[in-house]
Amino acid sequence: MANSVTTDRNAAASTSAATMKDTLTVVDNRTGKQYELPIKDGSIRAMDLKQIKTSADDFGLVTYDPAFMNTASCRSTITYIDGDKGILEYRGYPIEQLAESSNYLEVAYLLLFGELPTREQLDQWTEDIKAHWLLHENIKKLMEGFQYDAHPMGVFLSTVGAFSTFYPDAKQIFEEASRRKQVHRLIAKVPTIAAYAYRHSIGRPYVYPDDELSFTGNFLNMLFKRTELKYKVSPVLERALDILFILHADHEQNCSTSAMRGIGSSHVDPYSAMAGAAAALYGPLHGGANEAVLRMLQEIGSINSIPGFIKRVKAGEGRLMGFGHRVYKSYDPRAKIVKRTADQVFDVTGKNPLLDIALELERIALEDDYFISRKLYPNVDFYSGLIYQAMGFPVTMFPVLFAIPRTSGWIAQWEEMLLDPDQKITRPRQLYVGPQRRDYVPLNKRG
Ligand code: CMC
Repeated sequence: MANSVTTDRNAAASTSAATMKDTLTVVDNRTGKQYELPIKDGSIRAMDLKQIKTSADDFGLVTYDPAFMNTASCRSTITYIDGDKGILEYRGYPIEQLAESSNYLEVAYLLLFGELPTREQLDQWTEDIKAHWLLHENIKKLMEGFQYDAHPMGVFLSTVGAFSTFYPDAKQIFEEASRRKQVHRLIAKVPTIAAYAYRHSIGRPYVYPDDELSFTGNFLNMLFKRTELKYKVSPVLERALDILFILHADHEQNCSTSAMRGIGSSHVDPYSAMAGAAAALYGPLHGGANEAVLRMLQEIGSINSIPGFIKRVKAGEGRLMGFGHRVYKSYDPRAKIVKRTADQVFDVTGKNPLLDIALELERIALEDDYFISRKLYPNVDFYSGLIYQAMGFPVTMFPVLFAIPRTSGWIAQWEEMLLDPDQKITRPRQLYVGPQRRDYVPLNKRG
């Protein structure tokens, strides 16, 4: 089953041609009544089930789908994933081609505006971003208030949330010009926040953005510049980071994007919504996984300890981090590109000593029936942490490195949600299974 459901691209179209009718017939065996529900884009509308009732005062049938395993929450034109075939496309362009030939800023433009930019559009876009990558000095002061050992992701998401107090114009979410401005600010400022969070954690002075550098070159400069007049950015590392940013830019309705859309559906400003999305990304089952992978590899420590570790995972004592995915059930196409990129990075930085453990772990897991039967393959996070570590990032920065590029996906999805006439404030139903109505018992009468 493809995750991004489209009638054009999968069997639904040919099936409907054979049966000649895009409908689903449902018989309610409680009442014997029959209903015909329209099928569109390979889906039925959950609201169409509401007419299925046993009596006039019955609320009507609802679907029960914890964790949204089989529920489409929106129609989207941004990202396409086929989890069985390992396909990922942004606006129709395969991720492999984008990683090969594009760069992060161009991909961000593509996600936000739907088309690849012309030369002129790209130049203007780049200029707009560079015009916004400085932080207000008071933001700097705010960041200085964090403990020296504060987790950079906590600093990141708090600072993004604080932006809403600096840019109250962001509340004008239905004014296109205002939305454009927040888009520029967010894409431009997130690397600066990330770099400041890092410099703060190691007690170094902040480095201001440098307009002469590329998006990723500038980021590396803000992170690693010391006292030299000009920090020399390695073109291999700059490109590797660009590729990683492209791979992480969007991934349709994942946990943090759903948070962005859900929070944004209350019509709050995009900074507040994005603070929530970043918080969702922080968790170890999502963007925190790359950090968890590194800690796991360090804990395993040597190839000899791998069989014992795998045994514990299979016994349910912890997970093999960086493995498995809700959507990809063959392989994660991003993981393949990351693995290739790792080789190029290690040529410059020297091999990460944890690589051998990762490779052996992958080899053993891919031959083991526990992982095969559950369709667990390496995901994007399995090797990305090794690259980040080789580049000199501490593990606590890993989720932040995920959040920087995901910003473009979050705001593209947020804007699509805002302009979608089908969307309203997010408000799922529940199945209440608690106690029936009962009377309050005073404290002195409780047994
Ligand atoms: N190690 C060991 N067993 C696993 C793993 C794993 N990494 N992932 C899933 N399983 C098992 C799980 O125990 C269950 O087994 P059983 O059927 O016997 O109970 C089965 O596989 C299905 O797991 P699930 O938890 O129902 O699957 P899910 O779709 O809810 O979870 C996941 C997806 C990514 C949260 C999960 O695979 C996981 O926890 N992986 C490790 C964390 C990780 O690497 N996350 C990064 C995801 S990619 C980046 C991103 O987009 O955020």
